[in-house]
Amino acid sequence: MFGAIAGRYDLLNHLLSGNIDQRWRRLVTRKLYEGLPVKARILDVACGTGDLSLALAEGGHAEVVGVDFCRPMLEIAALKSSKRRGDVPFLEGDALALPFHDSSFDGTTIAFGLRNLASVEDGLKELLRVLKPGGKVAVLEFSKPRWAAFRIVFNFYFTKVLPVVGGLISGSRGAYQYLPDSVSRFPNQDELASMMREAGFEEITYQNLTGGIAALHLGRRPRS
Ligand SMILES: C[S@@+](CC[C@H](N)C(=O)[O-])C[C@H]1O[C@@H](n2cnc3c(N)ncnc32)[C@H](O)[C@@H]1O
Repeated sequence: MFGAIAGRYDLLNHLLSGNIDQRWRRLVTRKLYEGLPVKARILDVACGTGDLSLALAEGGHAEVVGVDFCRPMLEIAALKSSKRRGDVPFLEGDALALPFHDSSFDGTTIAFGLRNLASVEDGLKELLRVLKPGGKVAVLEFSKPRWAAFRIVFNFYFTKVLPVVGGLISGSRGAYQYLPDSVSRFPNQDELASMMREAGFEEITYQNLTGGIAALHLGRRPRS
């Protein structure tokens, strides 16, 4: 499914979100770096076409690696990185069996990826495993708008308009129908925070973005 939409993925992300997605990614970067060492090692899991990985690498604050299991997505990420003269390596790998040793990274991120994994719990455990003790995780994901009136308007757009526009432009109606369907099955803000706690993270906080359309959850691997 992701391979089929890779070519139009960035265009549709920016179009369907009114470019808000870029603002959300910059926020992830800012929040993740608070309290992390300079030249931290960061792993961006389910990196797709690399927008978050490249935002994380901007300014040379960190050494960033992107990993995804979809080659067409990775090829676009690598092309974008080379155009920006970036040196982010984009590797093929499964988020449920990351090709890295335990305790390899100061930070791990996953943006709009966790929802797609066969097991959210196992995905969280992998994000924890590859983190160094004291390392930080950032999870950016669609969530549940907080206010009832806004939720009704947004749900109309998300379930009726977005699948049609996304389907027409990408040529894959299924992928853009899958998006609202998978978001409706995904845990809400508090449930995800509890799942992160159960997976072993501590210091979990979250913030709603754009009224709760998305949420950014942060957590840490315990120091001992
Ligand atoms: C909606 S895209 C998000 C891409 C990117 N993180 C972003 O913010 O635009 C979801 C990505 O998750 C990847 N993905 C889904 N399941 C995966 C898995 N088990 N292992 C690695 N990548 C996975 C897909 O290939 C796709 O690139």
